[in-house]
Amino acid sequence: MSKIVTILGFAGSLRKKSYNKSLLRIAAELCPKDAKLEIFDLEGIPPFNQDLESQPPERVPEFKKRIRAADAILIATPEYNYSIPGVLKNAIDWASRPYKDNSLEGKPVAIMGASIGMIGTARAQYHLRQCFVFLNMHPLNKPEVMISYAPEKFDENGNLKDEQAKKLIIDLLTALITWTRKLEEK
Ligand SMILES: Cc1cc2nc3c(=O)[nH]c(=O)nc-3n(C[C@H](O)[C@H](O)[C@H](O)COP(=O)(O)O)c2cc1C
Repeated sequence: MSKIVTILGFAGSLRKKSYNKSLLRIAAELCPKDAKLEIFDLEGIPPFNQDLESQPPERVPEFKKRIRAADAILIATPEYNYSIPGVLKNAIDWASRPYKDNSLEGKPVAIMGASIGMIGTARAQYHLRQCFVFLNMHPLNKPEVMISYAPEKFDENGNLKDEQAKKLIIDLLTALITWTRKLEEK
């Protein structure tokens, strides 16, 4: 039997009742048996300061260690002002530094996102894909998981009521696992 694929997930929101944090929790529950999804909370990662990149605050090496230990990355992003939230970009910036010590280098990555609007984080997701180029990550193209009108799709406890959305999350995880195994083939 092939080895379990370890996926590290993080959400670009610090909000307690974040839809995107809920998406990650739901993805962990729905994760296929040949993989395991662990979640890292970006809380406590300070604003990036290049003066400190060689001796970063402790939450940063912790984050980079978790990234390096994972076979693949799953990012749940909100959309802020038609782009990715500063919290997410900031965490990615720390994870990529110092130069030549980019912990995200070569990692397979998938994206999902939920927003209260009708576009379901599409604009943010395409901005995030642009970052993957310089990071030299390997993004999964499809399926695209863009959950629109989030307040209608989640209940008050952050559970997804939308069965189609749940199926899409399973499809995303399955495709990410296949993509990761493919990239690992020598
Ligand atoms: C600063 C800010 C900017 C936002 N900009 C957008 C936007 O461009 N598009 C959108 O669909 N929703 C936007 N929203 C609403 C978010 O979709 C909503 O707050 C969502 O719940 C954030 O994700 P979270 O629940 O994971 O925290 C914005 C919210 C904030 C706080």
